[in-house]
Amino acid sequence: MRLTGLIRDPAGRLSALKAATLLLMLWPGVDLAIAWSSHDLGPRPVTEVIHGTGLWAIRLMLISLAVTPARALLDWSRVVMLRRMIGVGAACYAVAHLVLFCVDKKWDLWMVASEIVLRFYLTVGFVVLLGLLALAITSTDGWQKQLGQNWKRLHRSLYWLAVLALFHYAIQSKADISDAVFLVGLFAWLMLWRVLPRRWQQKVWPLPELALAAGLIAALVEAGWYGVRNHVNPLMVLQANLDIDFGPRPAVAAALLAVALVGVVAVRRAVKRWSKGRALPKGAVRGA
Ligand code: HEM
Repeated sequence: MRLTGLIRDPAGRLSALKAATLLLMLWPGVDLAIAWSSHDLGPRPVTEVIHGTGLWAIRLMLISLAVTPARALLDWSRVVMLRRMIGVGAACYAVAHLVLFCVDKKWDLWMVASEIVLRFYLTVGFVVLLGLLALAITSTDGWQKQLGQNWKRLHRSLYWLAVLALFHYAIQSKADISDAVFLVGLFAWLMLWRVLPRRWQQKVWPLPELALAAGLIAALVEAGWYGVRNHVNPLMVLQANLDIDFGPRPAVAAALLAVALVGVVAVRRAVKRWSKGRALPKGAVRGA
């Protein structure tokens, strides 16, 4: 496939939206590479790039899951053509993440394999990586045709892979799982939106409730995690969400971001109405 094939829309035209998305996805990798080569990553540069690539793999996974809600809520049908690219991007960052893990182990592949088998969080990461690769490989039109109904079933496994990826993230975070909890909140929002009845998925009124529920789920996950792993009183962890002295806790931050979406949807709809009004003078009939 020619490189320009990556940035063509389904009709075969070069797409500025796809080109911009590709550049935005490449940027974190380029940024990490520049920082690494200019010795800006501190005493353990390989660990830093392992973290950076892992983080972008999981972010892109969640962004690809956000494509369908974005289409429905923002009335933005073109966004759908980005989903495959974003999913493949997530798989690429995940592969880079494993390659860097091999670099960290000085390419002692026996050690890499035994660590993956023996350390639970690495086994979980490996399962996610295999899943992402399977989804990336079968994301083409050819595979879609060949697999028929099973294709959808296979690609729905992305939700479970995201759960496992968040689990991998939380376990490796050790003492502080704040960043993982924030992503758990966003993921919970995405899943809650998906289980809404279809006729409500484009409505604005369920969004504040979804934001609240997603924040609550993230707060419960956090409290449960610290309760089980660190034997901290879960009620105290829950209560900490009410304390904003040190800024919002991750579950609250996720809920606030989800609430901000209400504003984004409202503005987008107002702009659409306004531009429609300008394009079509009152009383005019399209095509007249
Ligand atoms: C064979 C597969 C994998 C291996 C060997 C692996 C290994 C690692 C290692 C060694 C770390 C750093 C742990 C530490 O510093 O103590 C890490 C962190 C991380 N990994 Fe993986 N991982 C794998 C797959 C994945 C996948 C598929 C994803 C996401 C889709 C992922 C997401 C992350 C994230 C988000 C972090 C934490 C980043 C941060 O703290 O900023 N990993 N992984």
